[in-house]
Amino acid sequence: MFIGDLTRTDYARGLPKVLVDICEHLKTLDLAGLENGRHDLTDDIYMNVMTPETDFAANKKAELHHKYIDVQLLISGAENIEYGAAYPDLSLYEAYNEQDDYQLTSSEFADKNVILMRPNMFVVFLPYEPHKPCVVVDGKVATLKKLVVKVPVSLL
Ligand code: CU
Repeated sequence: MFIGDLTRTDYARGLPKVLVDICEHLKTLDLAGLENGRHDLTDDIYMNVMTPETDFAANKKAELHHKYIDVQLLISGAENIEYGAAYPDLSLYEAYNEQDDYQLTSSEFADKNVILMRPNMFVVFLPYEPHKPCVVVDGKVATLKKLVVKVPVSLL
């Protein structure tokens, strides 16, 4: 997992090159003007732009991926992202959806942490790093704009 802020001049320090290249590309875009939906960045890398409503953690499932890295960038609004650092107990997860590369669970994280996301912050989840995005901040439901870049882990 990596956390950063795209507006920092030194945000790229320590980030793998493939992720730096993506972030540099994101910095050239009018993020607020991006249309919702899938945008292909290369033959292998794409992003989903979305305007979800936040919800209470109890109403949401946590997810993890096997093959793709998530680069989650918040464009506007504020969201909490819950995550756990420990290796997940996959017996608590639903069956793996191979087509869309995700596995969900309704279980609480045994070791829950929370990142408060602000605009221009990004967080990178590597495969098997569980995360629960779009959780309310201060108990208030709100609409976000965010994007998630999907990067095959084989490119790392
Ligand atoms: Cu994800």
